[in-house]
Amino acid sequence: MGIVIKNALAVLPDGAGHATGRHSIYVEGNAIVGIDEAPQGFVAAETIDGTRRLVIPGLINAHTHTYMSMMRNVADDLSFTDWLFGTIEPIEDRLEPEDSYWASLLSQMEMIRSGTTCFNDQQMHIHQTTRAVHESGMRAVICRGLVGSEYDLNERRIREALEERDAFADCDRLTFRLGPHAPYSCGPDYLRGVAEVAKREGMGVHIHIAESQAETDNMWRDHHCTPVEYVRDAGIFDVPTIAAHCIRVSASDRAILAEHGVSVVTNPASNMKLGNGFAPVPELVAAGVNVCLGTDGAASNNAQNMFREMGLLALIHKGTHDTPQCISADETLRMATRNGAAALGLDIGSIEVGKKADLVLLDLDAPSLTPLNHAVAALAYSANGSEVSDVLIDGKVVMRNRELLTIDEERVRAEIARICARLGLS
Ligand code: NI
Repeated sequence: MGIVIKNALAVLPDGAGHATGRHSIYVEGNAIVGIDEAPQGFVAAETIDGTRRLVIPGLINAHTHTYMSMMRNVADDLSFTDWLFGTIEPIEDRLEPEDSYWASLLSQMEMIRSGTTCFNDQQMHIHQTTRAVHESGMRAVICRGLVGSEYDLNERRIREALEERDAFADCDRLTFRLGPHAPYSCGPDYLRGVAEVAKREGMGVHIHIAESQAETDNMWRDHHCTPVEYVRDAGIFDVPTIAAHCIRVSASDRAILAEHGVSVVTNPASNMKLGNGFAPVPELVAAGVNVCLGTDGAASNNAQNMFREMGLLALIHKGTHDTPQCISADETLRMATRNGAAALGLDIGSIEVGKKADLVLLDLDAPSLTPLNHAVAALAYSANGSEVSDVLIDGKVVMRNRELLTIDEERVRAEIARICARLGLS
């Protein structure tokens, strides 16, 4: 028994770009099994009328920390150092593991409601975000945050990360990577140890690199190399690597990232809000780097809305390069979908037969989508996420007519209020 979305306007892949047309999409199990033509023996248990809907592949948030959403709007207008070490870390020290579970569910509510179906998470408390994803129906790549200077002293966290991966092996919406936090919080021996474990276990790595000018300056002072060189020399790039930020990267750094097939996640709102600038996206693309898009955590963004990120991504580079041609609406959407899928190594990110059925429906009656003269331009420049009406993830409806079916939103709001009161945040 399957689901058919009948007669909808759908954004399908067309070479490197997209083609929009009217289609019926057939879903069975967790996959897209037909476009316009039902496979033999297909029986629809549910038919969704797509007449006034735009169907797009679910957006992929390639870098976030979902456990941080209770810290939304508590550390603003501060320098990066004061933000991280002066405000966020002292709050993190007081978090209970279960706080992460509720905060992750809150982040996931916001993501589903704004069309994101998959996220790449660097987390703090094992078994909390995973449990939340298991229940919410979202798809996620979970990366245990790792920090340390000497490998032996911090082996416990790595062992726990592997145990968590094994504990959730039966959930095909969850995959796992190792998350060494950043060059400034991980010593070279520790990074080398993480790279070796990742290689042995066949896992990828998710790390922050070159987020601020101070990071680059300190790296030069202490190690006479760039953050990219430091991470490469520790062997991290010998395994599939997703690098968040990469703001301060030279031409030679960009060549290193391209040569090693490192995927870069740009996080425009978070990077600008912390006064760190933004990644040189057109230059990274020109060097041959796979660039994808993320929000970063709600403590620095302060939202989990990929539509806002798409708008910012497209506009800041046009504005700073004095040319509207340096990044197109098609490229913007690709960075939020297919490029993220490639970085994560998942069969998602486009509406094609055989891909996982992660689909988002937008309401064509929304003023921001009227008139829909060009669907991809509307997604990059006009939409804000409030147009999302229905969401399917892994072939299951998780939001129908704006009602979340898998998360008790009222309960989450109450738990977040309780946590914020305990932490003295509100
Ligand atoms: Ni981050």
